[in-house]
Amino acid sequence: MQKGKFITIDGVEGAGKSTQIDFICNYLDSKGINVILTREPGGTELGEKIRDILLSTDTKSMHADTELLLMFAARNEHINTKIVPALENGDWVLSDRFTDSSYAYQGAGRGLDIERIAQLEKWVLQDFTPDMTLLLDVPVELGMSRVESRGKKDRIELENIEFFNRVRDGYISRSRKFPNRIKLIDSAKNIEHTTEQIKAVLDSL
Ligand SMILES: Nc1ncnc2c1ncn2[C@@H]1O[C@H](COP(=O)(O)OP(=O)(O)O)[C@@H](O)[C@H]1O
Ligand SMILES: [Mg+2]
Repeated sequence: MQKGKFITIDGVEGAGKSTQIDFICNYLDSKGINVILTREPGGTELGEKIRDILLSTDTKSMHADTELLLMFAARNEHINTKIVPALENGDWVLSDRFTDSSYAYQGAGRGLDIERIAQLEKWVLQDFTPDMTLLLDVPVELGMSRVESRGKKDRIELENIEFFNRVRDGYISRSRKFPNRIKLIDSAKNIEHTTEQIKAVLDSL
């Protein structure tokens, strides 16, 4: 029996996920809600090891299906050992990225068949799904310019602009497919403008 709420935040690099996570944690805290912050890929000890394999530039080649399977392997561990137990305990869980990232990056970005991703989702998640997903949307080049100073890019960040444009389009089409769950947030203006939209969504929860 799930008692807490499960919120995920997604979007391309530089969309403002980490920035808004700070706001969301503080806002929920001010309402007396205990929120556990986590991330994907990762979130568990094993999941963080899988993250290293997925994102390290030492990983010279990886078949696209392998990438997808590792994402879902980490996610399986994440859901079963961390997210669901926390929700059952009455805590809220906020995840920096979740399954929508797999549809956007491995599906739209890498070109993997969406139906096969859906089969994996069904296998791993069954009917488990976030209560609310905040999809922060920015033009890819604006997002990239925001994170320019971050230094060394990870294995996936090294992809070209066309890849990330497909990722962004993939996110947008997911939000059209699940308009009740996925809230499309314009994150191209200033931080306060994004925060205001998120606050309105949280209030509705
Ligand atoms: N709406 C916004 N307008 C302008 N700058 C922003 C906005 N959101 C985030 N930033 C800045 O962009 C950079 C990347 O934001 P971050 O939250 O780390 O993005 P993400 O976690 O999605 O990659 C940070 O320097 C942040 O201060
Ligand atoms: Mg971030």
